[in-house]
Amino acid sequence: MRTLTPGSLIEGAVGILHCANPAGKIALSHAVAEAWASGTLPVGERIMPPDRPARPDRPLLLPPRDMPRRRKAGAEGSRIALLHAVAHIELNAVDLAWDLVARFDPPGAGFYDASFYDDWVRVADEEATHHGLLAGRLAEYGAAYGDLPAHDGLWQTAEATAHDLLARLAVVPMVLEARGLDVTLPMIESLSRAGDHASADVLRIVYRDEIGHVEIGRRWFGQVCRQRGLTPITEWHDLVRRHYRALLKRPFNDAARLAAGFDAAFYEPLAEQC
Ligand SMILES: [Fe+2]
Ligand SMILES: [Fe+2]
Repeated sequence: MRTLTPGSLIEGAVGILHCANPAGKIALSHAVAEAWASGTLPVGERIMPPDRPARPDRPLLLPPRDMPRRRKAGAEGSRIALLHAVAHIELNAVDLAWDLVARFDPPGAGFYDASFYDDWVRVADEEATHHGLLAGRLAEYGAAYGDLPAHDGLWQTAEATAHDLLARLAVVPMVLEARGLDVTLPMIESLSRAGDHASADVLRIVYRDEIGHVEIGRRWFGQVCRQRGLTPITEWHDLVRRHYRALLKRPFNDAARLAAGFDAAFYEPLAEQC
């Protein structure tokens, strides 16, 4: 597979967003992350990323309301459906991380703040690992990413927050990835009960890394608020109401959220009633 090192981090990020093939997206993500970590890759000039990342013909993308209901992970077909759904989320997460790198300037310290790029390149690299691990589990079931329909809700959120880093951080890591923390432990338990320990182990890696992603999102949200003189909690409530437009689902995994530095004072006021 062709994984030529790009001339800059931004060029690499945009190249990945234009790559339709999932395996190519993953390989390029690891190659760009490795080049960035080596310290030889400049940030580069800003290049606007595409409105929508390139994707393969399959899976068929459906509006979230038209998706078939996901069942418990007992029977093999249900396990494949669950792994496929998470693989889809992870591929979206790869694109979301590179889109953030390409689209937004770091707050305060200026365009070449390496710590901003260190964090988001790490997120992109880990999301690529997650998709690769899940694609591997699907292959062991004789299935593949693309076999089932998938929902298009994640990229709709990306489009709704493409105008502002603070809005993107408010919704993607602090609503969607935090929700991932809430639902992943029950999935791990369900897979373990069904005897699929290999898939449960993959989700344990995802769970561990995602705590880090929520922490990174929460921390940069705080940085941007500081730079703009805003109060994080009230600003987050305002942005979530404007761009997410739904109450946050219970139950919360308060321990994982707290490990990510994400205090219940943020999310409890926006939660659905018990
Ligand atoms: Fe992930
Ligand atoms: Fe993530």
